[in-house]
Amino acid sequence: MRRNGNRPDALIETLHSIQSTFGYLDEPALLYVSDMLSVSPAEVYGVATFYHYFQLKPQGKHCCSVCTGTACYIKGADQVLANIEKTYGIKPGETTEDGELSLLTVRCLGACGLAPAATLDGEVIGNVTVESLQQRIEEVTVHDNA
Ligand code: FES
Repeated sequence: MRRNGNRPDALIETLHSIQSTFGYLDEPALLYVSDMLSVSPAEVYGVATFYHYFQLKPQGKHCCSVCTGTACYIKGADQVLANIEKTYGIKPGETTEDGELSLLTVRCLGACGLAPAATLDGEVIGNVTVESLQQRIEEVTVHDNA
């Protein structure tokens, strides 16, 4: 914030820096940014909730986002999502009790030609199936427990 002269137009960059540092944006951080950049708390909260990139809760060690946009939905993303929900007992926006996996949904990853698509720890995976995405998740979570 200091580097940008505490300018209100540095809001997104500031939120990005906080999330990169701490992993998510909590309420004290949002209020601090509001105060320091002279932006209303409502506007800060509005920006933080508008962009899917920003997280308001601590995330799990691994994060899987399933695209539920039109192209992906038509190609079976709902089944891919339902399988992860059932297998790990979490809904979008939740994290497993052991903190290993967070599940999110996104409206479009910009990879519609690869539908259905998902991301796992930031890596875009195209043409996912119920089995292939679950296998990828198991690979990264089992690797942690090995
Ligand atoms: S709708 Fe899924 S990547 Fe565009």
